[in-house]
Amino acid sequence: MANRKPKVVVTRKLPEPVETRMRELFDTELNLTDEPMSREALIAAVGRAQVLAPTITDKIDAELISKAGDQFKLIANFGAGVDHIDVAAANARGITVTNTPGVLTEDTADLTITLILATLRRVVEGANVTQAGDFHGWTPTWMLGRRIYGKRLGIIGMGRIGQALAKRARAFGLSIHYHNRKPVSPRIAEELEATYWESLDQMLARMDIVSVNSPHTPATYHLLSARRLKLLQPHAVLVNTARGEIIDESALAEMLQAGELAGAGLDVYEHEPTINPKLLKLPNVVLLPHMSSATIEGRIDMGEKVIVNIKTWMDGHRPPDRVIPAML
Ligand code: 8YV
Repeated sequence: MANRKPKVVVTRKLPEPVETRMRELFDTELNLTDEPMSREALIAAVGRAQVLAPTITDKIDAELISKAGDQFKLIANFGAGVDHIDVAAANARGITVTNTPGVLTEDTADLTITLILATLRRVVEGANVTQAGDFHGWTPTWMLGRRIYGKRLGIIGMGRIGQALAKRARAFGLSIHYHNRKPVSPRIAEELEATYWESLDQMLARMDIVSVNSPHTPATYHLLSARRLKLLQPHAVLVNTARGEIIDESALAEMLQAGELAGAGLDVYEHEPTINPKLLKLPNVVLLPHMSSATIEGRIDMGEKVIVNIKTWMDGHRPPDRVIPAML
């Protein structure tokens, strides 16, 4: 059983109400400068704390976990994705891992539909041209994008975020197709009028828009490989608000450059924060800085989940958002 006020190390600056509450409840070490913690600082943290509250910018691998002291018991991740944490290595040492699912679903789905609209309708290009003072009057053939209504959207990963995207997409008149490890329940499929494709290859070859909404796991690394990307039709658009590693970014950049794909809307990158330089030069992409869950409400909700997970563990119960390798 944990002691009453565990030492909690928070690796990045969190919204103020979250930090205040954490200070009240735990013996909390905050990162007020928001400078990412070095490897040495992380090693020192797992050597002295009971709990680490990391984010995607911290690599919590097996080597780091092997340096943890016996007092180290909980990794309460601030974020839903846990691909930066070696969950199996942590569990093998009796360290619990938790995440923050659910609370960033709607915000991420909002930004995914934003990327679809922005890419097909050339919103960023239009805004840039206008702000640069280069709008010289309407013409019948200028700034033509592609119609959203009536297109086929293929969603890769029909979990919470995929389903929230499907709901929005239906309101825009898109037909919903999806690939997932298994079909969603008949009730959800009916509600979303969603068509299940067991074969990702076959779905890719028939979609106008493809959105990546699956977690990054060993099974989804480069799921959109160079070979699979080639299955997309040249008029198709690819959107990714999940994880960069799911797409072979270099192959994608080459296809976009060669005009083999109409466009891409990306919020995440394979080697974040580095972005393939080819992508940066392309006009037919909308690139965002990993901001799908970046709303103040979302980040406070995420912080509250972290707090509940730590508090439940501290009180000797099983934290609600425990992650186990079988879930990945
Ligand atoms: C988070 C995310 O903000 O929760 C996730 O998995 O991708 C982001 O939206 C980030 O991971 C925080 O650690």
